Amino acid sequence: MAEITRVTLKRPDDWHVHFRDGVMLQTVVPATAREFARAIVMPNLVPPVTDIAAAEAYRQRILDAVPAGRTFTPLMTAYLTDQTSPETLREGAKRGVFSAVKLYPAGATTNSASGVTDIAKVMPVLEVMQEIGLPLLIHGEVTSPEIDIFDREAVFIERTLGPLLASLPALKVVLEHVTTKEAVDFVSAQDASGIGATITAHHLMINRTDLFKGGIRPHLYCLPIAKREVHRQALRRAAASGDRRFFLGTDTAPHAKHLKEAACGCAGVYSAPVAMPIYAQAFDEMGALDKLEAFASLNGPAFYGLAANTDTITLLRKPWTVPASIAVDGGSELVPFMAGETLNWQLA
Ligand code: DOR
Ligand code: ZN
Repeated sequence: MAEITRVTLKRPDDWHVHFRDGVMLQTVVPATAREFARAIVMPNLVPPVTDIAAAEAYRQRILDAVPAGRTFTPLMTAYLTDQTSPETLREGAKRGVFSAVKLYPAGATTNSASGVTDIAKVMPVLEVMQEIGLPLLIHGEVTSPEIDIFDREAVFIERTLGPLLASLPALKVVLEHVTTKEAVDFVSAQDASGIGATITAHHLMINRTDLFKGGIRPHLYCLPIAKREVHRQALRRAAASGDRRFFLGTDTAPHAKHLKEAACGCAGVYSAPVAMPIYAQAFDEMGALDKLEAFASLNGPAFYGLAANTDTITLLRKPWTVPASIAVDGGSELVPFMAGETLNWQLA
């Protein structure tokens, strides 16, 4: 069979991004808007985006950073805290400001200090979300220090997510950035109308051994942390299955180079500049390029009750080298995922 040299698909969306704010936002929004039509925007700013006014103002700052001539729609999320009121979510959803609500267990990851300390405290809010069909996006890791970092996702599913779905069976849930076979199996066993899971580009490419290849690799450190190879293989199978429960979410999470290359480096992989080329490479390696459109462009909109995009993008099999770093106004730098490496695919 002749080698596939180009792939055209309906324009994809990114169902999980961190845009940050200020000069960083000016640098990273164009990278996402170049490939994707829409993105679900994470609310973990400092202070977090917890109300309608903050989400509207943040949405406008994002729109102002979209390069002229591009159409890009940021879909905003509310940051769930122990104090979030059901009225705020009802009103924000009704006004089309909130597309979803993000649950960070307090202390689980970057800027999660204001997150939920105990699911029991937010049950009344989750009941309202179930009633109005507002999706809950979950960072699925337990925070107990005694639980091994590589087990935190699997333990969260067992202790928290399973019981939560049992008590709120009609709540729409996305288990974000899944990293384990346990997560894939759990999601695959749920009713497809109510559950989704995002899969990042980097978790399709690296396992935990890569974090220490030849030395410690701070730019591959993110949360949930990459797991063993058996888990990466499970993620690859899920992404390439065409199953509508699995869709694209890069979790692109920029941190300045000096904050990654530090004694205590920040968690987050900046993947926006390479996202679609990397997904194409992973699907190509699996002989599943015909399944890329479902994963990148169809399954996510279907979950969120939106139409797929009507325009298209084309990816070409044409090697290019990822820049070693990207300048941010004000003097800092970003190191993208796969910096300095040669990728096989690029946007036409
Ligand atoms: O690695 C991560 N970085 N995981 C998260 O959950 C948050 C993100 C960030 O905001 O930097
Ligand atoms: Zn994230």
